[in-house]
Amino acid sequence: MKLTQQGKKILTCKDFFCTESHPKSTGMVIFGASGDLTHRKLIPSLFNLFLKDLLPDDFYIVGISRTNFTDDTFREKIVAELSNENDVDSDEKLREFSKRCFYLSGDYESLSLYSDLKWRIKELDKEFHTDMNKIFYMAVPPDLYTSIIENLGDLGLTYDDGSSYSRVIVEKPFGFDLESATELDRKLHLVLREDQIYRIDHYLGKETVQNILIFRFANSLFEPIWNNHYIDNVQITVAEELGVEHRAGYYEHAGVIRDMFQNHMMQLLSLVAMEPPASFGANEIHDEKIKLFRSVRRFPKNANEWIIRGQYGAGKINGNDVVGYRNENGVSPESKTETFAAVKFLIDNWRWNGVPFYMKSGKRLQKRVSEIIVAFKRVPHSIFPQLSVDDIPANILKINIQPEEGIVLTFQAKHPGPKLCMSTLTMDFDYEEVFGDKPPDAYERLLLDCMLGDQTLFIRDDVMKEAWSIFTPVLESWENAPEEQVNRELHIYPSGSWGPPEADELLKKDGREWYQL
Ligand code: BG6
Repeated sequence: MKLTQQGKKILTCKDFFCTESHPKSTGMVIFGASGDLTHRKLIPSLFNLFLKDLLPDDFYIVGISRTNFTDDTFREKIVAELSNENDVDSDEKLREFSKRCFYLSGDYESLSLYSDLKWRIKELDKEFHTDMNKIFYMAVPPDLYTSIIENLGDLGLTYDDGSSYSRVIVEKPFGFDLESATELDRKLHLVLREDQIYRIDHYLGKETVQNILIFRFANSLFEPIWNNHYIDNVQITVAEELGVEHRAGYYEHAGVIRDMFQNHMMQLLSLVAMEPPASFGANEIHDEKIKLFRSVRRFPKNANEWIIRGQYGAGKINGNDVVGYRNENGVSPESKTETFAAVKFLIDNWRWNGVPFYMKSGKRLQKRVSEIIVAFKRVPHSIFPQLSVDDIPANILKINIQPEEGIVLTFQAKHPGPKLCMSTLTMDFDYEEVFGDKPPDAYERLLLDCMLGDQTLFIRDDVMKEAWSIFTPVLESWENAPEEQVNRELHIYPSGSWGPPEADELLKKDGREWYQL
């Protein structure tokens, strides 16, 4: 069932209030310009912003990597890649965009690269009137962050006096555990102020994730029941069909806890569970996140009771045979890396006392889906003689983050027919149906916000460290565990399943189950 308005079978977007500021002229320097992230996400997102007229009137992009491109060959690559994705109408725009792209090749450790860059920035600043505003994007392996940023600092390229800015966007992984993240942060702060550091978590740029705050705090309907009086449990799932692909070098040392939980999953949790911030400002929101993370109960010594880990074996995805994790390229045949985890969280505060938050994420699962399910309590008493309380399903609110972005609410209604005939209906808000298009890529929002100097959708240093402090003891205990314990605890699940059955047991022992709407 769809919400209806004036007889139409969709929810119409009636009154809307949108604000979007235009950023000041700026340059963007991308370290790691020949890499996957630059070509799959950064350049296409910048081009989309350009097509939507959301980039500053004056801007330039400098790509940097070890690969030997010239300005021309870099532009040709960009044009070829973007024209595959865009229709012919944008050809003129494509040429205009590519004229603003430049390239420098060099070794990230060599000082001459930074003096060349300084000279290039000065030239481009004159040509594009950018007032020395610049953003440096770290799309390189994390072990290069410190030396690149130190070199930029040494040449005065990170100078930011308020009238012209220098900002740095840092990709994840931000550290490997609490200690390394703290050390990386300390080194960055020797060169940069916190308001110059943009730690990116692309989940926060997703429209549906941003919508969580609007949904909670721009409606008076849900917030009064958003607590342990009315909510029984919350389930957050981020499932992927993809396996490790070509990223074994990174993933073997990361695993799903570092790759998905410490960042994306914890950010989703924070938006669902935080208290109302004083205002929709970056620091106010980060203050609520840190408060919430401090209230997250630490895992018991035997973390197994609350964390189930697994690794994908061979199986079928969309009908095609796929190999198990240990047979993937670059993965050790004895690898103990977890590609799946199901985790139970408790939050020790007034709002959430006693409400479990179950979260699961894994690779090579049955279907790509990211969703948040809020399961309300059942009715306290049944007035219907033939139905017990247990026969009346609980209301479920589902926030679909991807791929079918939207919100679904279930409720019970009378079914036409016999006097007591009840069925569960759903009210659906489908993002694409209502707004006529798929939401923009998360990177568009985040790149634009960085140009606008808005850190709301980035991770503040204390929030990042607190998230590490929750998982680091568990990661350490796994690393130090005897082999037979690891073999016992790392459950192999078939690719194409929903993970190991032990993940269901985690809920079953609490008298609950994963909802599948
Ligand atoms: C990345 C992880 O941060 O997020 C990947 O490193 C994962 O392993 C990806 O596949 C998932 O992002 P999305 O937007 O496809 O859900």
